[in-house]
Order: sequence, then C-alpha cells, then structure tokens
Amino acid sequence: MARITASVYTSHVPAIGAALDMDKSTEPYWQPVFAGYDFSRQWMKDNQPDVIFLVYNDHATAFSLDMIPTFAIGTAAQFIPADEGFGPRPVPIVIGHPELASHIAHSVIQQDFDLTIVNKMEVDHGLTVPLSLLCGAQDPVHGAWPCPVIPFAVYVVQYPVPSGQRCFNLGRAIRKAVESFDEDLNVHIWGTGGMSHQLQGPRAGLINRAWDNAWLDQLIADPVACAATPHIDYVREAGSEGVELVMWLIARGAMQDVADSASHISVRHRFYHVPASNTAVGHLILQDT
Ligand code: DHB
Ligand code: FE
Repeated sequence: MARITASVYTSHVPAIGAALDMDKSTEPYWQPVFAGYDFSRQWMKDNQPDVIFLVYNDHATAFSLDMIPTFAIGTAAQFIPADEGFGPRPVPIVIGHPELASHIAHSVIQQDFDLTIVNKMEVDHGLTVPLSLLCGAQDPVHGAWPCPVIPFAVYVVQYPVPSGQRCFNLGRAIRKAVESFDEDLNVHIWGTGGMSHQLQGPRAGLINRAWDNAWLDQLIADPVACAATPHIDYVREAGSEGVELVMWLIARGAMQDVADSASHISVRHRFYHVPASNTAVGHLILQDT
C-alpha cells in the first residue's frame, strides 16, 4: 500500500523564486535564506519520495473571484507553471499522478470532505517556490522535478477560508486515502505558505517572531491544540496573510503520530529567518521514526 512517511513545511514567498531565477541566491540578502535549505536539499536526495502531495494556495492565478473552490485537487497528468505577470518561472513542468490523485479524491469525498476536482490548472509560486527550495534550480527544458506532484489548492485569499481544525481533519482523511491505495508508494506531504506576513493596509510588513516560533513548537508537539487556533489569532498575531498557515495543518494531520498515538515523529530540520521580501520564512521537516 502507499504510505505517508514525511511532511515538509515551508513558506512560498514569490521573491525567493525570483532570486533563484535571476541568480541572486548568493547575494548577502538571500544567502541566509537559501542556506536554511541546504540540509533539506540533501535530505530530499537521501529520502526521495515516489510522490509529493503538495498543499498550497493559488494566488488568484488559476482561480479568479469568478470561482472559488475551498479545496481543489489536481488530477491532471501535468501542470504548467503560470505567468504571474513577469512571464512563467523558468522551471520544469510539474508532472502529476492522476491515478493516486483520483483515488484520494474518491476516498476523501467518501469521508465527507467535498473536494473540487481539477483536470486542468496552471500552478503559481505557491507550488513552484517550495519545489525550487527543496529541489534546487532545475533546467526548465531538460530538467525535471524529482517525482510526480499532486497539487492540492486551499482557498485562503479572502474570507470565508477553512478553519485550521477543518484542515487538520482533512489531513487525517488524506492519510487514510493514501493508505488505501493499492500500490507501494512512498508519499511525502507538504504544507506551504506563511509564516507571519501582512501585504496590505496599515500593518503591512508585520512580523511576529515570538508567535511564529511558539506556533511551530505547538505544531510539532501538540498538533491537536494547534489545530484549534482560531482565525482571529492568525490575523491578529501573524497578519492578514499569516492565515496561510492553516495549510500546514493539513500536512501535520496526515502524519502517522496523529493517527496512532503509539508512534512518533522526529524533527529532521527546523529553520526560521527574517526577512524575505515582507515575510518571515519558516521551514520544518518531520519524518516517521
Ligand atoms: C508574498 C506573497 C505570498 O504569497 C506569500 O505567501 C508571502 C509573500 C509577497 O508578495 O511578498
Ligand atoms: Fe502566499
């Protein structure tokens, strides 16, 4: 059967993608950001998954205000990097896994989480920047991401957005769905977005190191309590876009220790850095022991 063995969490700041694409990753401003992922790129090589289930949010790229799916699963064979205003990022096409994605859609909907099934979709920085951070720069034409990726888009741009609790419970359902797929696949689940940031209004530029780090501590050690964090806390403490963090709870809810209290996870890597653009960058790797 397929198994989820690790989860990866990372901010997906678009300026990180631009810095990489324009060869600025060794400049003094960016070097400490990319250095925080040196361990992770090696870990990816040593722990190569068969499939990545990548939770991210679309930033009005594939979905405008014409149509707002709260949870959308990408079931296509491939996903083209989107043009977000400066041309598409020079990165490889994302290869999907239609069989596993369709199975997860079927199972999760049967578990009472109604998903939108997306057979054609372009993917934005929310998905491609985490892949670049963990896999390094890739030749857009001859290169390839290390494995198929199932994009899972969560709507967090305008209210109503799903609660952290709903996301956590959905993660649990995704774990069951993966475990009922009849093929031996090693699956990693990624949660992206955050950490504290506000891109608009009088509090633009808000960063809250203390809150971010306390939230990370709780996500690791007491995910059930972390899932109960209400929206108002994210907005007040982590800024209007800090609510992207609810997506990390989907990945956390899919880990083995949540399903089985006798099992344990280990923290393989933890990184926190300010600034990257207007954002605090947070990153974690959790793995079954
Ligand atoms: C920015 C955009 C994002 O989507 C994000 O998650 C963090 C930062 C930005 O525009 O700087
Ligand atoms: Fe974002």
